[in-house]
Amino acid sequence: MASLADRIGSFFSGNDSSADEGLRDLFISELKRVYHVEKRAVNALVDQADASTTNEVQAAFLQHEDESRIQVERLEEIFRIIGIQTEEHASGAIDGLISDAKAVISETEAGSLTRDAALIIAAQKIEHYEIAIYGSLLTLANVLDFTQSAELLAQTLEEEKATDHKLTVLAQSFVNSRAKEEEDQHPGSHHASRQPLHGSDADVTLGGPLGI
Ligand SMILES: [Fe+2]
Repeated sequence: MASLADRIGSFFSGNDSSADEGLRDLFISELKRVYHVEKRAVNALVDQADASTTNEVQAAFLQHEDESRIQVERLEEIFRIIGIQTEEHASGAIDGLISDAKAVISETEAGSLTRDAALIIAAQKIEHYEIAIYGSLLTLANVLDFTQSAELLAQTLEEEKATDHKLTVLAQSFVNSRAKEEEDQHPGSHHASRQPLHGSDADVTLGGPLGI
């Protein structure tokens, strides 16, 4: 069996056409998958905005819905650039994530803080999935020298990361206002899990906006 370094060496010296073809096919397959994911995400964001309780959360979902429509167009541009037909690939992962997102709407009370917290968690699961696919596609585009596609993918990846960060900040503000409310009602009885959160305390690397 060849070492990874040898394979990469012969790939970049242009002596491994089968790897080139394989990676190109992989890129196209993932492109079709993310195209499907993005289109489904637009619809999910509409539902999430409708179901949200606060103006801030609703505005975040609506803003990302607009962004996602542009991201769909960017993917269509990539299909054009690489000269293949625009097509969607099924994704069991997004089906599951969207079904979870729908479930939290029926499982939480309309108008409750819990509803918005649950919507944020569900939305971030979708964002993290999108970030994983766009990150992989960007790496493949760079390896394959798809320069224009890489630029478009990098733009979308930054938007997804910004949305993820915005949702984290929103979640922090919920926890903080809840902590203040409880402190006002019961001075001196701070619950450990409701201490105010700052900056990276609720970083997504901990698993999610609420540190779950
Ligand atoms: Fe997206």
